[in-house]
Amino acid sequence: MKKTSKFIFFVYLSIVTLVFLAMLFILVPLASGGDQPIVVTILIGAYAVIVVLLYQIYQNYFKPISKITIVLQELIKGNYSARAHEKTHYGAENLSYAVNKLAFNLQNLNRQDKMHSRQLHTVIDNMESGIMLLDTNGYVQLVNRKFTDLFDKTESEVNNQLYYNVLKQKKIYHSVQEVFLYEETIKNSITLKKNGQTLYIEIVAVPFFNESNELRGLVFVFHDITELKHIEQVRKDFVANVSHELKTPITSIKGFAETMLDDEIGDRSLQQKFLTIIYKESDRLQTLIHDLLELSKLERDEFDIELRKIDLSTLIEDSITMVNDQAEKKGIHLMLRVTKDLSLMGDEARLKQVILNLLYNAINYSRDHGVVIITARPSNQWIEILVEDNGIGIQKEVIDRIFERFYRVDKARSRDTGGTGLGLAIVKHIVEAHKGVIEVESELNAGSTFRILLPIHK
Ligand SMILES: Nc1ncnc2c1ncn2[C@@H]1O[C@H](COP(=O)(O)OP(=O)(O)O)[C@@H](O)[C@H]1O
Ligand SMILES: [Mg+2]
Repeated sequence: MKKTSKFIFFVYLSIVTLVFLAMLFILVPLASGGDQPIVVTILIGAYAVIVVLLYQIYQNYFKPISKITIVLQELIKGNYSARAHEKTHYGAENLSYAVNKLAFNLQNLNRQDKMHSRQLHTVIDNMESGIMLLDTNGYVQLVNRKFTDLFDKTESEVNNQLYYNVLKQKKIYHSVQEVFLYEETIKNSITLKKNGQTLYIEIVAVPFFNESNELRGLVFVFHDITELKHIEQVRKDFVANVSHELKTPITSIKGFAETMLDDEIGDRSLQQKFLTIIYKESDRLQTLIHDLLELSKLERDEFDIELRKIDLSTLIEDSITMVNDQAEKKGIHLMLRVTKDLSLMGDEARLKQVILNLLYNAINYSRDHGVVIITARPSNQWIEILVEDNGIGIQKEVIDRIFERFYRVDKARSRDTGGTGLGLAIVKHIVEAHKGVIEVESELNAGSTFRILLPIHK
């Protein structure tokens, strides 16, 4: 470019020189002998002026313009940091200022554009739902990270491919057809097998339009609703379990009451026997409903324990007194290893419930003449409570399940001891509401140890 402007300058210079030489050769012979030096002088003077002017034009216009052209070409290439550095005092100055301003604005726009697209990309990529964008021909234009994770594909495997070559599910195919046909949002759901697990995916297909309301494509959103499904299942199971648990005592109460109504039972001892069963079963019902209400209270979102300073040593001693009768009946030896004056911040009534539940379990799931040891001691910022027994123990395969609602290793045994299967679920809730942890170690036929850690909260 530089060469060209110089080149043009020399071309013009040559033309001017040739014109003057021609004029010199034509005009000088025409002038009379005395005027010839004057004509030559005038022509040389005029030539000098024109050459100086030409040089000025070259310096102030040609040269800067060719430099600005280079800058413009850089801008076209996308190099928005290119700038014109010409400082002339004539017309080209405005031009180079305008070009620099243009470059500056372009650079800003480009920077903003890049930032926006980066932000958009970050948002789309970090969404909890999978996204797939299709054009009106069904080609995939964009997918996010969740999508590639969900369907085990890479972006390059998916982009610019026909959607039905990417996703083989019939329901997806139908959703696309429906969206293109009715131009309305379509909801559907599919299941995916992933790492041996079934995922439930809700799909929403949304058409999108341009300003003139023409369909431009559709966006697929894939929500993983596996966890919701699981919660729903747990709820259904719970309702089924509750109904089942209620059914047994009610059937029994009704049966014995009917028998007593129908038959003329003269035998007073038989009457007594039936009434005792009815009483026991209604007692069972009451316990069950009490435990259910307790659990529902604990599970309520707004549930919060009231922390008060409590004397744990006294609380444990009181609990021991309450379970003494039951222990004596089985000849079980209760041992207390509690550090004196152990206090912590907690909910007294609820912590007593925890200790009682664990003690009753230790007694109920022990053989006659067993030993139950309760230990409470400080351990750093925690208080450690251990309830140990040398009873029937729990097999490894089910140990994680004993905190589930209604889970019982041996249903009949639990029932015989008046268990509802809710005790440990309640215990776990209370411990966790105190920001504590509960663990269990057990060996079948050797015994179990329940270990609770509660924060001291100074
Ligand atoms: N100390 C223990 N030794 C052996 N098994 C236990 C012990 N504590 C609890 N379990 C088992 O865990 C199950 C759940 O306990 P829990 O929630 O208290 O219900 P339950 O009303 O049956 O006592 C019990 O049915 C029992 O099978
Ligand atoms: Mg229990």
